Amino acid sequence: MAPRHFLDIDCFSGDQLRSILDLAHKFKAAGRPTPQSLRPDALKDAVLALMFERPSTRTRVSFDVAMRQLGGQTLVLNREQLQLGRGETIPDTAQVLSRYVDAIMLRTGSHEALLELAAHASVPVINGLTNLSHPCQIMADIMTFEEVHGPIAGRRVAWVGDANNVAASWIHAAVRLGFELRLASPGELQPDAELMTWAAAEGGKILVTDDVDEAARNVECVVTDTWVSMGDEDPDRRIALLKGYYVDERLMGLAAENAIFMHCLPAYRGREVTAAVIDGPQSVVFDETENRLYAQKAILAWCFGTD
Ligand code: CP
Ligand code: NVA
Repeated sequence: MAPRHFLDIDCFSGDQLRSILDLAHKFKAAGRPTPQSLRPDALKDAVLALMFERPSTRTRVSFDVAMRQLGGQTLVLNREQLQLGRGETIPDTAQVLSRYVDAIMLRTGSHEALLELAAHASVPVINGLTNLSHPCQIMADIMTFEEVHGPIAGRRVAWVGDANNVAASWIHAAVRLGFELRLASPGELQPDAELMTWAAAEGGKILVTDDVDEAARNVECVVTDTWVSMGDEDPDRRIALLKGYYVDERLMGLAAENAIFMHCLPAYRGREVTAAVIDGPQSVVFDETENRLYAQKAILAWCFGTD
């Protein structure tokens, strides 16, 4: 039987995503300890390898704790400590790890490497962030949106800043879950043309603009992220390009009255967001952080499930 990978949001139907999100909400409502009835048998004593080629606080800790609370265990593997760092191939690494562990989460600067790992692993592979996407984050973000505003279908979200890996997963989610997404970015840092062609072909309601006000007007949620992502080259140039693409109280004032502010973190106050907004009453950034735990549990339950 083919392993159930969690590689990207666009790999799933809206119904599949809905059921993972519903389970994530259930995990949160159930609190601690996770009730036996919500712990999939397949996770008991299972081992999840957490492979990192880039730093992480939230993804590392939330997967580790989620796995423990579901009765499983984790193994943290950093690239430089593996033979992978000395030239062992990804296909060989995938097959070796599949003989020891029950699932693999990978954070990498190469989306190709993630796909290659998944193609050769006989256990589920989870995308813990690549240069192109960050699907686990967006599952937690949608959960957070829904805690405030109810089901996200038909609602409005604005993205302000670099149309990076996190924005790409927001685009996938908008298409699959049927909400409107408006992205404000400077021309050079707007979403990839191929991704936008896909979104249009799938009937997504997505606006790309260089006008932050146009994006933010009347939305129920404003999201941003760092101007310089891990692996980005030429930070000074990016910072110059993104100068006007930040979230402040004025911009939040254009959004709907009950709008929330989201950021996956780590954040850089005074660049992509002012301290007044991220530390203010509309910010739900630490709810997003907390919800990573419940979203990871639901993603793990899906990966360890069967068709
Ligand atoms: N938001 C997020 O993925 O954070 P980490 O880089 O700390 O995992
Ligand atoms: N866009 C950021 C997200 C960090 C969680 C990065 O890739 O560095």
